[in-house]
Amino acid sequence: MPDHIYIKDETAKGSLICKDLCNELMQYQASKAKTVFYKMFLSGMKYENRLKPSFESAEDKQLLVTYDGDAPIGYVFSSVETVTEEKKNQRPPFANKKMKGFYPDWLTIPTKIADLGNLYIKPEYRGQGLGKELMNQAMDWLRQTQDTPYLFVYVSNGNDVSKFYESYGFKYSHDVFGGLITAYIQDHQN
Ligand SMILES: CC(C)(COP(=O)(O)OP(=O)(O)OC[C@H]1O[C@@H](n2cnc3c(N)ncnc32)[C@H](O)[C@@H]1OP(=O)(O)O)[C@@H](O)C(=O)NCCC(=O)NCCS
Repeated sequence: MPDHIYIKDETAKGSLICKDLCNELMQYQASKAKTVFYKMFLSGMKYENRLKPSFESAEDKQLLVTYDGDAPIGYVFSSVETVTEEKKNQRPPFANKKMKGFYPDWLTIPTKIADLGNLYIKPEYRGQGLGKELMNQAMDWLRQTQDTPYLFVYVSNGNDVSKFYESYGFKYSHDVFGGLITAYIQDHQN
């Protein structure tokens, strides 16, 4: 990485710093969705209902930001949460009870899990190893979390990024809400 591009742990600073980047990521994800319905649903995702509440409610978390000089150009958010019966059954109004939610049926609850979300590099900075660098640091953090038997990552409909996560040990787990999202998982020990 050139000197003017660097990664900083901004967990203490708060998530607002990533508001614009998060909104760009949400728009990107909506643009990738394969059906009109998923596109419409994902279009409603933004900083205020995604990163902000996730950041505020996380039991443990890490927000890494990639900068070019003073300008944030990418980020990744990792967190730890306790999965309860209520959380396991959470679903948006369109999802029927047959559709799997965020967690696999076999997951014994309550349990803590760690997950990686909101990985994003601005388009003009992609393909230079910056995503990999963020991911490596996020994986180091996820792997040092305590009492989290599984690590998860979630990919929205139509976003062809599974091979990237598979190269870090994640494997397909299940379709969430009928395919709106795909869940990938790995044992913490990997
Ligand atoms: C995914 C993303 C963060 C990767 O960032 P990047 O800086 O372009 O990635 P890097 O240059 O570090 O590439 C690292 C490796 O991953 C591979 N890779 C990058 N994007 C990939 C993708 N979408 N699918 C599969 N492999 C990918 C690269 O080919 C490279 O492989 P190599 O090490 O064998 O050369 C970036 O493309 C991005 O922000 N995408 C849009 C947002 C997104 O989809 N985020 C994931 C949300 S779940």
